[in-house]
Amino acid sequence: MIGIFDSGVGGLSVFREIVRILPEEKYIYWSDNAHCPYGEKSRDYIIDRARAVTSFLIEQGADIIVVACNTATAAAINTLREEFSVPFIGMEPAVKPAAQATRSGVVGVLATAGTLKATKYIDTRAKWAHDVKIVEHIGQGFVELVEKGNTSGPEAESIVEKSVRPLVEAGADTIVLGCTHYPFLADTIRKVAGTPVTLVDPAPAVAKHLMEVMQENGLIRKDGFSMSLHSSGEPETLKNTYNNLI
Ligand code: DGL
Repeated sequence: MIGIFDSGVGGLSVFREIVRILPEEKYIYWSDNAHCPYGEKSRDYIIDRARAVTSFLIEQGADIIVVACNTATAAAINTLREEFSVPFIGMEPAVKPAAQATRSGVVGVLATAGTLKATKYIDTRAKWAHDVKIVEHIGQGFVELVEKGNTSGPEAESIVEKSVRPLVEAGADTIVLGCTHYPFLADTIRKVAGTPVTLVDPAPAVAKHLMEVMQENGLIRKDGFSMSLHSSGEPETLKNTYNNLI
């Protein structure tokens, strides 16, 4: 069983890619929306949440866990790997493919405050972005929009524009979606950018990596799809977002 968690519904943007290539597995998803957003929380707080959620998923039968949250990956994946014996798959900020894709030489990165200040992101940027200019912006208010299921229309556009416009004005033609909630705002991001931009979502690469690790560990069962959805808070958005995906 594949366990997937996020601070909310964002991880479903990763699940969407996983289920494309692993359609016959059993899944369990935890939306930690009573504790959302993670983006502004301390590292210790996120580690505690990641530990509690992981314990629950393993108790329910998960034998591999996808940390479908950039912020939680940056804060907690090393601790999780030390404390639990199942394999963990985390999110990687897609700086490398974005640096290869840009024509203007400017890459925008949208992520949470927690991700942007984490060593994991800073190291990735140092490794892959020396030939391009990186401009970063917190997707201010994006997670809240997605958790409300409010991903298009005037309110979403006006909030999204405040974070996207500075990247476009700095010359970015390629934007990394460094938070798993943001792909649900992709159409709105493209609309407010006002100029063609390439959005880079690491989820397909994460899904591929998950499949390889499952193959190596003999975890692919192909014994029929199932999904069990759980949330620590109000479950409405989770159900609606999931139902819109399938
Ligand atoms: N979806 C998460 C991420 O990828 C967390 C967003 C948040 O809770 O702030 O970063």
